[in-house]
Amino acid sequence: MVKLDLKGCQPFVDEKTFKAYVERAIAANKIVEEGSGEGSDFLGWKHLPSETGKAQIDDCQSVVSAWKAKGIDLVVVIGIGGSYLGAKAAIEALSHSFQLAPRGPQIVFAGNNMSEDYIYELMELVRQRNAACVVISKSGTTTEPAVSFRLVKSYLEETYGKAEAGERIVAITDKARGALKSLSTQEGYKTFVIEDNIGGRFSVLSPVGLLPIALAGFDIEALIRGARDAEKALMADSSENVAVQYAAMRNALYDSGKKIELLASFNPKMQYVGEWFKQLFGESEGKDGKGLFPASVIFTTDLHSMGQYIQQGERTLIETVITVENAHNTVVIGSDPQNLDGLNFLAGKRVEFCNKMAQKGTFLAHVDGGVPNIEVSIDVLDEYNLGALFFFFEKSCGISAYLLGINPFNQPGVEAYKKNMFALLDKPGYEEASAEIKKRL
Ligand code: PA5
Repeated sequence: MVKLDLKGCQPFVDEKTFKAYVERAIAANKIVEEGSGEGSDFLGWKHLPSETGKAQIDDCQSVVSAWKAKGIDLVVVIGIGGSYLGAKAAIEALSHSFQLAPRGPQIVFAGNNMSEDYIYELMELVRQRNAACVVISKSGTTTEPAVSFRLVKSYLEETYGKAEAGERIVAITDKARGALKSLSTQEGYKTFVIEDNIGGRFSVLSPVGLLPIALAGFDIEALIRGARDAEKALMADSSENVAVQYAAMRNALYDSGKKIELLASFNPKMQYVGEWFKQLFGESEGKDGKGLFPASVIFTTDLHSMGQYIQQGERTLIETVITVENAHNTVVIGSDPQNLDGLNFLAGKRVEFCNKMAQKGTFLAHVDGGVPNIEVSIDVLDEYNLGALFFFFEKSCGISAYLLGINPFNQPGVEAYKKNMFALLDKPGYEEASAEIKKRL
């Protein structure tokens, strides 16, 4: 389960102030729980773990079995934003760092950029392998995934024929709307539904995340169990609720002049959890000229790049560190009779012990340097704890945004680039905007 330690904030927020924010966060939690806030028609994620049962898990597993029977060794997961970051985060966090002993087919992600070289190289890979594809888009109209999907679909149809290609494509989309929905119906693809009341960045515990994670060979039942336990624990209208406490502290720090929240971890497997977190909080809170800017770092790696800025740059940072308390494996540093590298003081110690001392040293240095520190810990990096962590951040985000006075569930700012891009690409319907925008270039 997720634990929270706020002692690294004590020098920055006094107890009385924190208590007042906690009271407000309890009220914001009530708004989430009662569905009485702005955007409350997008609260489907809130009970997703308890509503996901054997039927939903089995539905994902049926695809895993069918593709195993076909000997599929590569799955291209196509989607952008909330339609890929959660799955990518979980798969990276749970996988072997060097892809040894994969538990399922290799999972690669596409449709999250329009780099021609990326897509060319993706198709080079696909051509060498026994491939299948999961295409994910809630709206069913997003350009980036649609471009990649057109290419992958046409390759699969040319190579395997239309009927077999149809068995190698699964779509996850809206139940009724969008081009992907009509295309899937027309082509007869197996389809999973993204419910109307679940926004992309809150969808990791729906089929959007569950199917790719299951295909990668991980235990989605345990993931959901962890999320379910978190769902239950984080409902409480109580000052003991860690989502309430986290939301309260980040708002207290924001109001005291902090502008940037760095999500840090001393485990490189957490890099994409950082990317997922950035989207969750950035797209939910960054509105009306408000919100902590979410960034992410991996330590100790980034202590040798961003460490200088964090220690002595502009004092607008807060740091939220995800601690994984226990490593899965044991590596002990050996003794060397010659001690030429001078490392014998570490002989007999575990690498993870050194990592933990680096973390404690960093904590003290950064707090001394004026960076408040929030610690979020899980026992071990596995499906259960990851499910709990995902839900913890989702719940905290809902509470935090309401505390900030923001509707967490829309993203009006994402449309501006799309309008310009469509005008520049001469999309039908954008004729007037096309003429105008081209004058500006
Ligand atoms: O959180 C969100 O809603 C967005 O990031 C979407 O997930 C992203 O824009 C992709 O949209 P869609 O799934 O409709 O293709």
